[in-house]
Amino acid sequence: MNAPRQIHWNNIYATKLVNGVSWYQDIPEKSLQLIHQFMPVERQPAVIDVGGGASRLVDALWAEGYRSLAVLDIAETALAKSQARLGSASEHIAWLVADVTDTKLPNDAYDLWHDRAVFHFLVEPEERSRYVQLLRQALKPGGVLVMSTFAPDGPEKCSNLTVRRYDCDEVGRILGPTFKLLLSDREIHQTPFQTQQAFSYCVFQKL
Ligand SMILES: C[S@@+](CC[C@H](N)C(=O)[O-])C[C@H]1O[C@@H](n2cnc3c(N)ncnc32)[C@H](O)[C@@H]1O
Repeated sequence: MNAPRQIHWNNIYATKLVNGVSWYQDIPEKSLQLIHQFMPVERQPAVIDVGGGASRLVDALWAEGYRSLAVLDIAETALAKSQARLGSASEHIAWLVADVTDTKLPNDAYDLWHDRAVFHFLVEPEERSRYVQLLRQALKPGGVLVMSTFAPDGPEKCSNLTVRRYDCDEVGRILGPTFKLLLSDREIHQTPFQTQQAFSYCVFQKL
């Protein structure tokens, strides 16, 4: 576990309101749309939201009938907020406090891996390769990755941390040939501070 990183993120969620951070969404519409399209609830997929923070994605998926849900985040304070919001439903969700670049997950465990605004913080190549190694190992063959990062014209920093910006072809080059790009999209995110951020949304399938 990268201690300064964990302290940073724990502190963010301990000191800010859930809707007082730039990445807040009432409803994560684009993520939901892509999940519905590529991993519908009828398949009863196993889903992990990596770096899920206090996002309401898990609430929406639970309400729609997705029943195998895990949320991983380095910040316990973020997961605690989601748990409190979800009440008794939270007992049916796996909450994993972990650094995605330095943890283990079971092999072939998930049908869908969702990441909004986490991978772009990995500015060191070794961290990115550890992330990709874990993703490759934990996603089932045929499983789907929905990844959203700041786009090439998006912000250079988030939460005071430098990010790396991507289009989906560049994400694909980092993921390597085990992942096939199914869809490239963009979204202009309206922050709670009335500013705009360009995001890339990329869907890949693990071959
Ligand atoms: C910009 S927020 C996005 C949160 C959420 N995905 C959303 O869309 O609301 C980035 C999240 O990634 C988490 N995070 C950052 N680095 C991480 C790491 N190495 N491992 C796991 N989580 C991490 C942070 O705690 C934070 O919740």
